Formats: sequence, structure tokens, C-alpha cells
Amino acid sequence: MGETGKTKVGLVGCGAIGTLIAEAVERKLVVCDELILYDQDEKKAEKLKSSLRFPVVVVASLDELLRLKPKVIVEAASQQAAREYVGRIVAEGIDLIVMSTGALLGLNVQSSKVHVPSGAIGGLDALSSAAVAGIDEVVLTSRKNPRALEMNNKEAKIVYEGTAEEAARLYPREMNVAATLALTVKPAKVRVQVVSDPKVQRNTHEFKVKWRFGEMFLRFANDPHPENPRTSALAAWSAIRLLQTLLLKDA
Ligand SMILES: NC(=O)c1ccc[n+]([C@@H]2O[C@H](COP(=O)([O-])OP(=O)(O)OC[C@H]3O[C@@H](n4cnc5c(N)ncnc54)[C@H](O)[C@@H]3O)[C@@H](O)[C@H]2O)c1
Repeated sequence: MGETGKTKVGLVGCGAIGTLIAEAVERKLVVCDELILYDQDEKKAEKLKSSLRFPVVVVASLDELLRLKPKVIVEAASQQAAREYVGRIVAEGIDLIVMSTGALLGLNVQSSKVHVPSGAIGGLDALSSAAVAGIDEVVLTSRKNPRALEMNNKEAKIVYEGTAEEAARLYPREMNVAATLALTVKPAKVRVQVVSDPKVQRNTHEFKVKWRFGEMFLRFANDPHPENPRTSALAAWSAIRLLQTLLLKDA
């Protein structure tokens, strides 16, 4: 709770995901008293504010956001934003939901205040349980329409094969799923294949896991967000779900 006794939620990034989260707050799916919006493009924050009736404050910097003492902050901006802000937010003792999970691969953050949502996939509970016992192999295949990869191939084409770390670096906006898997199964490694496929309309992620006592196969076919085809709505809903839980926590 902030100094004024209000429960506030901070949102860094007012794009596709930030907007869905703000709309969930507006619809009272997330229970808080005030939303604080920060975007490096202030017009985006102002535009989002004007679409809401809920009490909203727009701030011009992360420092200003921190001074208002939100209970939880959601980063829905970029890997670069996450790299820059995670340490400063955690230092204030504020719970932080990180959407740009690729940034966490290089940061080695050890804090119970940093929360990784399941994002555009799921099954991380089973995967992290298996990781404790020992994982032998994880293979992720992500299939996207060329539009979502800024390509225009007419036939299905493998555009990347390699490690999750490299995939998250080369495709910082598209391959957070690979990063989320890598964070969940470490120290095991994730092999990644990215396919640009004009036949798929949905962002499809499949992963196969071989672990000490069995196998898993999970598949997610997500509608792309209408305003940002790289992003799946499920990613925003995973943050909304996590936000609900974190707001119930005692200070
Ligand atoms: N974890 C997952 O499964 C998952 C799934 C989809 C997207 N994502 C990631 O979540 C993030 C947000 O996705 P989106 O679709 O809403 O993106 P978006 O491009 O629609 O919106 C991002 C917004 O953040 C703002 N921004 C960028 N850098 C900033 C900074 N340093 N400080 C403040 N604001 C900044 C931009 O101006 C923009 O308005 C992206 O990094 C994306 O890759 C994660």
C-alpha cells in the first residue's frame, strides 16, 4: 500500500500487453485503487489513460513511478527496459512482473520480488518440478505467420535453429517464450527452432521434454494480438492472473 493508503499498480509499457492489463483493471478483474502508467512514449500512456474511466496517473520517468510507491509493477515494455529497471524496482522492495523475460537470462537476479509469468505458454509447474529431478532434453518449436516475424516467405521455412539464449537475443520481441523455458529448466538447456509458416495464423509453440522419470509434450496455439501480431493475448492474461495473486499478498 502506498503512503496515501491506496493500493497502486504500476505499468511500464503501454503497448499491446499494457493496454490489456489496464483494461482488466478497468473491468475490476484486478482489484486496486489506482493505476500508474509509464511509457517512454508519453503519448501512449496519455492515450491509454484517456480510454479509461479508472483513476490513472501518468508519470514521465521510472523515478516518478517509484516515488508513488506502487504495490506491484508490471514491466511490459522491452528487454532493454527490463535490463535497466529490474534492479531499481527490486531495490525499492516492490513486486515486479517481468514480461520481457529474455532480459533476465543475462541478469542473474536472485530475488523473490521478481516474478516470471508463464506468458504465451504454460505447464511451467510440471517443467520446474521435473527440473529439480533432472531434465535430459527440451526442444521448443515456435511457428509463426511471416507477418509476425516481419518476413514474407510463401513456403514454410526454418528461420532459426539454436539455443534459447541466442534466440532471445536475436528475436528480442518474439522469443520470450524460449527465455521463459530456459529460466524454468535451468541448468538444462533448451534447443529452439523458429519456423516462419504462411499456413499458420496463430502463434504456435510446441515443446517436448525428456526428463528423468518421463516425457512431456505441450502445445499452445495462440491468437495474435490484433495490434501487435508478435504478441499473444495469453501473455497478457498470464500477467493479469499473476497480478491478482500478488495484490492479495501482505505487504
Ligand atoms: N513473456 C512472454 O511470453 C511474452 C509474450 C509476448 C510479449 N512479451 C514481451 O512483453 C513486452 C511488451 O510486449 P507488447 O506486445 O506489449 O509490446 P508493444 O511494442 O506493443 O509495447 C511496448 C511499449 O513499451 C514502451 N517501451 C519500450 N521501451 C521502454 C522503456 N525503456 N521505458 C518505458 N517504456 C518503454 C513502448 O513505447 C511501447 O509503448 C515485449 O518485450 C515483448 O517481447 C513477452
